[in-house]
Amino acid sequence: MESGKPIGVFDSGVGGLSILRALRRELPQEEFVYFSDAGHAPYGERDDAFVAERSRAIALRLIDEHRIKALVVACNTATAAAVHLLRAEHAHLPSIGVEPALKPAAGMTRTARVAVFATRGTLASAKFRALHDSVRGQADFVLQPCDGLAAAIENDNQEEVRRLCRLYARAAGEFGSAPGQIDTLVLGCTHYPFAIPVLAEVVGPGVGIVETGEPVARQARRLLEVNGLLNRAGRGQVTLLTSGPQQALRQAAQRWLGGSLG
Ligand code: DGL
Repeated sequence: MESGKPIGVFDSGVGGLSILRALRRELPQEEFVYFSDAGHAPYGERDDAFVAERSRAIALRLIDEHRIKALVVACNTATAAAVHLLRAEHAHLPSIGVEPALKPAAGMTRTARVAVFATRGTLASAKFRALHDSVRGQADFVLQPCDGLAAAIENDNQEEVRRLCRLYARAAGEFGSAPGQIDTLVLGCTHYPFAIPVLAEVVGPGVGIVETGEPVARQARRLLEVNGLLNRAGRGQVTLLTSGPQQALRQAAQRWLGGSLG
């Protein structure tokens, strides 16, 4: 049956596990195939053509070899570069992308100052520009490219994660809840939620940190429901695939997803 097929999820590396974690909470009976493109990461400082090519190749593999019933592009950079192409090329396949949570942040901020941490590729994309234009006037958005941060998280280099979080927070401006300070931080890269403990310490109390896992998971549920694809009898298994080292992905999945992988 179509609904028993897995959902494909991909990212340049382990970042998409932050989205998969939310998907599994929202959809505990779905089966997932997760593809980490660690052999070609990071995406964030590459050009669009490279990221689009990788995204196409991964989508084809998930469709041909795993017969996925839906696709989650669990990467802001790949969504910006390729989700429109994937939707055009696989019109039958429900596809969900992720984007930095500017709209929720605009509703949350009290100081009307919001920092957006994302990759250079995401911030430079036409898709992000359109999103930014749609909320202009609702708050002042400080756009901060975070070169190297996804790679440091990918390699679990905690010292470098801490150094870069400090560096980029300082570059963005003053954080806090007083007038004129940045009181909301949008994590516009799916790797960054894994640095939340460090980021929270760096930006200090009173600053809201916004990620996209839960809204994406709710949207996935809606899309499966309208397409009659919701699995109500699956075992919640996760198959892990990667173009990089298998062991590193397995360890990251155990660390970030917790419990059993089904
Ligand atoms: N996790 C990815 C994102 O959401 C990209 C990280 C990278 O490969 O640079 O943009």
